[in-house]
Amino acid sequence: MMLKHAIRGVVLAACTAGFASAQAADPTAVENDAGKYFDAEGYPTFNIAEDGTVDFHTYSGFRRFNSECHVCHGPDGVGSTFAPALVESVQDMSYEDFVAVVAGGRENVGSGNQNVMPAFGTNPNIMCYLDDIYIYLRARGEGDLPRGRPAKKEAKSDVFAEMEDSCMG
Ligand code: HEC
Repeated sequence: MMLKHAIRGVVLAACTAGFASAQAADPTAVENDAGKYFDAEGYPTFNIAEDGTVDFHTYSGFRRFNSECHVCHGPDGVGSTFAPALVESVQDMSYEDFVAVVAGGRENVGSGNQNVMPAFGTNPNIMCYLDDIYIYLRARGEGDLPRGRPAKKEAKSDVFAEMEDSCMG
């Protein structure tokens, strides 16, 4: 555990010093699969029309984030004194790392602080919507989505409705 944190600390220090880091992919949507958008590397991303209509997953992510994560990470992902601003985190971390932290949790014990990110791997209310939360935070992080509830959204697809039913059991 200690070693892992030490290495992470070194990586973070390298980032702030301006060295290349494991940046998240370019969020531009290049594929639309039944209303869910993907970037050139195949990672889930957002799509916002010129009139502000957001894809359904961005909207779903807004709702899930602001019911499950905001208590610690601040409304709309802006962060708190207790937990990092995820609108910034998603710009620096890979999709895989994001998923791993939410599923497995993380505990950073140092300098007198004990900051605990709970593990949500067995919570369907979060795991069934994890891509949505990631998509929403990406949109926020890119500055393409203002704070608050998106006014207009695309409809939920039948594909996602079925996926949701089976995921939630
Ligand atoms: C009980 C408070 C709490 C809740 C609820 C919570 N988190 Fe966290 N989270 C934290 C803390 C504290 C950290 C920083 C942990 C550390 O320093 O290692 C963190 C870290 C993270 C990180 C790593 C950020 C980075 O910059 O490295 C991600 C990603 C994350 N949380 C996602 C989420 C998501 C998504 C949700 C909602 C499903 C959520 N968290 C809910 C407290 C929380």
